[in-house]
Amino acid sequence: MNRNLALEFVRITEAAALSCAHLIGRGDEKAADKAAVDAMRKAFDSVHIDGTVVIGEGERDEAPMLYIGEKVGHPSDVAPKVDIALDPLEGTTICANGGVGAISVIAVAEKGGFLHAPDTYMDKISCGPGAKGVIDLDQSPTENIHRVAEALGKRVRDMMVVILERPRHQDLIQEVRKTGARIQLIGDGDVSAAVAAAWPDTGIDLLIGIGGAPEGVISAAAMRCLGGDFQGRLKFRNEEEKTRATKMGLLDLNKKFQLEELAFGSVMFCATGVTDGPLLKGIRLLPGDQATTQSIVMRSKTGTVRTVQAHHNLRIKSHL
Ligand code: FBP
Repeated sequence: MNRNLALEFVRITEAAALSCAHLIGRGDEKAADKAAVDAMRKAFDSVHIDGTVVIGEGERDEAPMLYIGEKVGHPSDVAPKVDIALDPLEGTTICANGGVGAISVIAVAEKGGFLHAPDTYMDKISCGPGAKGVIDLDQSPTENIHRVAEALGKRVRDMMVVILERPRHQDLIQEVRKTGARIQLIGDGDVSAAVAAAWPDTGIDLLIGIGGAPEGVISAAAMRCLGGDFQGRLKFRNEEEKTRATKMGLLDLNKKFQLEELAFGSVMFCATGVTDGPLLKGIRLLPGDQATTQSIVMRSKTGTVRTVQAHHNLRIKSHL
């Protein structure tokens, strides 16, 4: 994959993020999501890739754009064939409520590089490079917290574990509290949180719990670039989801996926902040139709992580 593509992908997530800037805190999740999807879809048209969406807005019959299997980009004989995992607005509720950590995100892999995860749940665990190799979904949360604390050289009571605040996590929260570790409960947005575990100065050491499976694959792409670790196991809500997963080619529905089984080969990850979060600053709207964005873009091949601050003149570039 051409490294210059990285900046092209930043333009795409910037466009999606900017398009929902005026919908932050407006209470309209659908409008915010639609704005981001429309802008991201349009922005792909100018990128010289032969791309296929493998993690997207849903199946073709349920999503008009950026659906699984949709071709994106501006293909040519020399355009690289890539698979794309995306979420134009990760944290639609966060955006609608003006909460913490909504982002626009794209991960890109060489053809076949991503697990084609069905739109179900995934049991996840994510940590930074300092604890790579010690996490294990087959072990209890208590054991994982102790292992990560030891690897990081921290006391358990100094650890910060992020968990999505959901009724399904009641037992998990109780167990983690028993270890003495601290917890940050988040309302939504476990991609930001998973990646934050591998990002300096976020104060986050570990993410544990069940969230969306597509978000798990996107998070894994980031962890490949950052040298962190991630494991996931699909969690099905019903038989229909299991049947769908089997049709997608998954043989072992109880499989524990290692990082490289979720995102392998050469991958890129790119995200732009919509609202302020642990990873990125949100969009600032300035006088005179100006705006600023903050994005990160990284590649697994080199491990280089770039933070891109951009100033946009929206009089010329009419995203909003
Ligand atoms: P959306 O951006 O699709 O709203 O997802 C937000 C999110 O919080 C994800 O970060 C997380 O993986 C998933 O939803 C959790 O699902 P649920 O809200 O059903 O528990």
